[in-house]
Amino acid sequence: MDHLQRVKEEFTRQAATFASSAAITDEQLTIRFSEAVGANGEGTILDVACGPGIIAAALAEKARELVAFDLTPEMLEHARRRCANAGRTNVTFREGSATDLPFAASSFDAVVTRLAIHHFTEPRRVFDEMLRVLRPIGTLVVADVVSSENADESGLQNAIETLRDPSHARMLALSELVSHVEGAGFAIETQSTWDKPRELDEWMGIVNDPIRVAPLRTVVRALAQAGKTAGMGLSLADGRTVFFHRWHLIVARKPPA
Ligand SMILES: C[S@@+](CC[C@H](N)C(=O)[O-])C[C@H]1O[C@@H](n2cnc3c(N)ncnc32)[C@H](O)[C@@H]1O
Repeated sequence: MDHLQRVKEEFTRQAATFASSAAITDEQLTIRFSEAVGANGEGTILDVACGPGIIAAALAEKARELVAFDLTPEMLEHARRRCANAGRTNVTFREGSATDLPFAASSFDAVVTRLAIHHFTEPRRVFDEMLRVLRPIGTLVVADVVSSENADESGLQNAIETLRDPSHARMLALSELVSHVEGAGFAIETQSTWDKPRELDEWMGIVNDPIRVAPLRTVVRALAQAGKTAGMGLSLADGRTVFFHRWHLIVARKPPA
């Protein structure tokens, strides 16, 4: 199956559980992301791989116009409902792949993307596209989970992630994420990193596929018992398997023309 088809299949099934996950809808995360957009957040914004519209609905409060863009129609449907419930009338919804953004060059004052880079098989191509559709001096805000810089730990964490959700292409190390942003031609202004504690059961539940995740839970728990942290703090606490997701948020600018 082609990767984009796999993404659609996964996020069609995960749409409802993802949209209602407390870890994903965490208001502090949304506020942190929204504040990062700054003054260009009052202009025209593109949310790439918007999912159920958590960030789109928040940013649309101040934006003149916002385009919520995603590959998965079911996710766009959730985004539509979330924006309608929030009374946002300045949001349009577009379906397509981030690798070929269907927008003219320099169309947006800000381009944002959250929790999506690790689903792209060609992340650099998506950064090139985001640079193209952003106007000069426009703002890019990208936030994603990142892996350990250690290749073995990164390999193990990515293996766990892909077994849980095969639409996970590859979680980049922080240095790789930075190098994609700079390599595409953006000038980085600020960056921040934080660890978000997660519970294995809650995280596995989001994929909404008990037959797939039951054996994986056992394997990941055994890794934790054996002291393999996978670079994500995998461990046991009060009988629960816990870990963290390391987030990295970058605010960057397209250089002047
Ligand atoms: C983990 S969700 C993140 C959703 C949202 N950005 C958020 O932070 O709540 C990943 C989303 O990326 C979308 N996606 C994955 N690959 C894509 C692609 N090539 N083009 C557009 N959307 C894509 C999926 O459909 C899914 O909605």
